[in-house]
Amino acid sequence: MNRVLEHLGCKYPIVQAPMGWIARSQLASAVSNAGGFGIIETSSGEVENCKAEIEKMADLTDKPFGINLPLLFLKDDSMVNFIVEHGVKFVTTSAGDPSKYIGVLKDAGITVYHAVPNVAGAMKAVAAGVDGLVVEGTEGGGFKGMEEIGLLVLIQAIRKQSDIPIIAAGGIVDGIGMAAVFAAGAEGIQMGTRFVSSKESPVHDNFKNKIIDSDEAWYMDFK
Ligand SMILES: Cc1cc2nc3c(=O)[nH]c(=O)nc-3n(C[C@H](O)[C@H](O)[C@H](O)COP(=O)(O)O)c2cc1C
Repeated sequence: MNRVLEHLGCKYPIVQAPMGWIARSQLASAVSNAGGFGIIETSSGEVENCKAEIEKMADLTDKPFGINLPLLFLKDDSMVNFIVEHGVKFVTTSAGDPSKYIGVLKDAGITVYHAVPNVAGAMKAVAAGVDGLVVEGTEGGGFKGMEEIGLLVLIQAIRKQSDIPIIAAGGIVDGIGMAAVFAAGAEGIQMGTRFVSSKESPVHDNFKNKIIDSDEAWYMDFK
């Protein structure tokens, strides 16, 4: 048992990353049913579809799962209100000011982790009163800022300033990667790309195979 597992309430401290259109009930329920922690995305902006996906989870799993709120992309408070009303227990916030909804989420008894790409963002989130951080190194898939800070460097730098629980994300694909970030002070991991290629992921096989066939320098293909 560790602090992240206590917050997640699942068997393994392995979180499936929120990913626009991909992190929906089919994938998230499979991860939660397997003992990990599925997260439903809302970054697609398809508010009604995402609400329906959250409601579907009740039929697909009796295990814990979470929701991601990409703060800059939320058009209004409707998704936040929906989450509060539907008894969601765990939320990750990302892309924006963590203090924006922390009060309403905490008042509803929801555990809140904020995703950060640098030390300044981490300290701002700690000051805002989040329960933990998703620390995202530049290795990670999805939208990333201009700063290219490696995951291990970032965890070490944040750990020097705070003992807050950390879920590490970026470039982790197996137990070796998981052990490495645990040694640095993380208590959980979040994987995105690895889960995109899984059987339960809803993307086209060409996308899955591109990931499976890639080598360590795959990103060069896109330069
Ligand atoms: C296709 C894709 C979409 C993503 N969309 C989001 C998102 O909507 N919100 C978010 O917080 N992170 C998003 N991410 C980042 C993931 O949450 C995660 O931090 C990252 O994928 C971890 O690195 P990995 O892909 O090397 O495992 C996305 C990642 C991918 C690959």
